[in-house]
Amino acid sequence: ALKDNTVIVVLGASGDLAKKKTYPALFGLYRMGFLPRDVHIVGYARTKMDDAEYHKRITSYIKIADDDEDGKAKLEEFKKFTFYISGGYEDGPSFENLNRFIEGIESKYQSKERNRLFYLALPPSVFIPVAQHLKEQCYSKDGKNRIIVEKPFGKDLESCRELLSSLKQHWSEDETFRIDHYLGKEMVKNILVLRFANVAFGAAWDKNSISNVQITFKEPFGTEGRGGYFDEFGIIRDILQNHLLQVLSVLTMERPVSFSAEDIRDEKVKVLRAIPPIERNDTLLGQYVAANGKPGYLDDDTVPPNSVCPTYAATTLWIHNPRWEGVPFILKAGKALNEAKVEVRIQFKDVTQGIFKDISRNELVIRIQPSEAVYLKINAKTPGLNTRAIPTEMDLTYKRRFTEIKIPEAYEALILDALRGDHSNFVRDDELDVAWKIFTPILHWIDGKNGPAPKPVPYPYGSRGPKELDSFINKYGYKRTVAE
Ligand code: BG6
Repeated sequence: ALKDNTVIVVLGASGDLAKKKTYPALFGLYRMGFLPRDVHIVGYARTKMDDAEYHKRITSYIKIADDDEDGKAKLEEFKKFTFYISGGYEDGPSFENLNRFIEGIESKYQSKERNRLFYLALPPSVFIPVAQHLKEQCYSKDGKNRIIVEKPFGKDLESCRELLSSLKQHWSEDETFRIDHYLGKEMVKNILVLRFANVAFGAAWDKNSISNVQITFKEPFGTEGRGGYFDEFGIIRDILQNHLLQVLSVLTMERPVSFSAEDIRDEKVKVLRAIPPIERNDTLLGQYVAANGKPGYLDDDTVPPNSVCPTYAATTLWIHNPRWEGVPFILKAGKALNEAKVEVRIQFKDVTQGIFKDISRNELVIRIQPSEAVYLKINAKTPGLNTRAIPTEMDLTYKRRFTEIKIPEAYEALILDALRGDHSNFVRDDELDVAWKIFTPILHWIDGKNGPAPKPVPYPYGSRGPKELDSFINKYGYKRTVAE
């Protein structure tokens, strides 16, 4: 349940994440009536400014249409309970000051209960000191304390373990909410329902029926000024090791005993443990180059010259368990491609030859974004006086079917879950550990830790990706279906 009397503290309130995601989501929740009663939001960052200046910033973060009078009025209300206070990330007195500020707000509460939710929208270099100071100086003794943290959770298995164990000295697993915002997306949450509430899908969900699975992330823009961060991490750490692997785990886990957070995450960990580390020859790496009037990755001033950091990666994972033995799971992600799209494409096997020849395979596509949809490619009889089969689709496009419903933003869903104390869509410590085990060897190879770093193949900005992509996916048995 939602806790009344909650102070939400956003640390890193002037940064990119707060601006793009945290504040718009908090406002979205307020607008929909989902924030607890007596909620207050305190922004905290190094930049010195007063509430008025800060409110001006919030107004620029939150997009409201010119004719949306209700939205504008709600935003004015929202500002009344949002404050700002500046301070450092590594010194005790700043956090004592923050604590006094929070206590000032709480002193007006009628009940004794004082709940605090700390949202760390911060660079990893200050995760640990901030977590420690929050525990030492800002921990409420009369209510729930929760902390939300975001990736990067380390750079490999070892650094992740170090980070986790440092954070654990101050915050228990129950108090910690690790965001992978893909778990907050409507269509990712939908996977469990599709799989376990439909006999038809459940029955065909294994190596007997499925030939190959692709989980694809495509973005039409490059690193654009974010190259400093990106170059240190690369596309695998940015997208595959977290977002796409999380999608893979909900797609392939066994049915959990219940919908409880621990039951779900137990099953996710179990299936991930059946995946061996990725092999080099199951990997294709690319880097975008200038084309169509757009700059190449190396033209970004924030990127070191000659960087071999991949901005595109396709890797194939194998699950060694009775359900999935032999089925390739191809994870693909790239920046600066021809479109914005994230989808899961499950390609079924060929029908047994006999009465039909050259017939297209069935495919179940779960489109995560844009325009959420589930569609199934099937073969049907050509209408009319003949018996030929033609490929066609059963199409559940959300905006056509559910016209009245607004699909929430991932961050709205996740912040609400954290306020409710529901961990189902957050990443547990052991999930991270096993995710890093799968990716660490390949990442060390790419980082040039055990020899020369591999050189990614070039692909033009705005293209489908490296030209080697088609032969890469065909190698795993993918067959292009007719009606794409
Ligand atoms: C973030 C990555 O985790 O996810 C970004 O760091 C990426 O590089 C973003 O752009 C994509 O998220 P979404 O919700 O826009 O698909």
